[in-house]
Amino acid sequence: MIARGIMLGPDQPVILHLLDIEQAAESLHGIRMELTDAALPLLKGVVATTDVVEACKDVNIAVMLGGSPRKEITLRKHMLSTNVSIYKAQALALEEHAAADCKVLVVANPANTNALILKQFAPSIPKKNITCLTRLDHNRALGQIADRLKIHISDIKNVIIWGNHSTTQYPDVNHVTFTTRNGERPVREHVADDHWLKTEFITTMQQRGVAIIKARKASSAFSAATAACDHIRDWVFGTPKGTWVSMGVYSNGSYGIPPGLIYSFPVKCEKGKWSIVQGLKIDEFSRAMMDATAKELIEEESLAKSCLE
Ligand code: LMR
Repeated sequence: MIARGIMLGPDQPVILHLLDIEQAAESLHGIRMELTDAALPLLKGVVATTDVVEACKDVNIAVMLGGSPRKEITLRKHMLSTNVSIYKAQALALEEHAAADCKVLVVANPANTNALILKQFAPSIPKKNITCLTRLDHNRALGQIADRLKIHISDIKNVIIWGNHSTTQYPDVNHVTFTTRNGERPVREHVADDHWLKTEFITTMQQRGVAIIKARKASSAFSAATAACDHIRDWVFGTPKGTWVSMGVYSNGSYGIPPGLIYSFPVKCEKGKWSIVQGLKIDEFSRAMMDATAKELIEEESLAKSCLE
């Protein structure tokens, strides 16, 4: 998708650095062969390696997919101990070898906490450049609402995913609008069944990753890749006027979220920089949901730190 211009547009040539572990070297070679066979005009080079230093050398954008994947029965917390040590090692390599303004997107779970570890061990990468993927949840929420209202996805905007990319995430529809012939209307007014928005919609969203694993016997792939491309594209090129997207970014204390956590907020992007949308009204229900997911992130942070010790 990157080499076909889906992430950075049809005019941006790319050099792909692909990193995998030693045991996967042959399969990595297979991917390299496929890239050659696809004859992609934008692809100006491929560095396929099992050496983390070679992989990180001078990269401008790092999409961190590596991690022990979750099967149906694995609990996220068990995954945490394996994956945080991977992130420490990769952070050290990025710190030393990546381009100074490298933009980082962590996809592998636990994504927020992996990004937090990366931020800690790659202190020279600006903290604004270290993010994690919640665009997948953001896109999923748009999909659920479009299905329910029987409207087109491009007519809906401004959903928010608050917090952790986990079962405590809070998908907030209080600011979602959709386009009608008479202008933009709040979705909340249109969904007759407000109960659905407060219950089933939220749990469907929180459990969607698990539901996909159950059905596919593997984690989401296509939708996650699409979301990763969307995340980087909007970060680099900007979000359309009047809209925002959800990104896991470090908290500066906005909306009372403890500073320093990597937490999903509504953000607008312009000229390669994101900023948290300010001044949104937060009702009591939202406040409780936002605090619950922050609490989980604080717990994950202390568990990750104890694993690293
Ligand atoms: C997803 O949301 O699809 C994944 O993050 C689920 C997982 O744990 O791999």
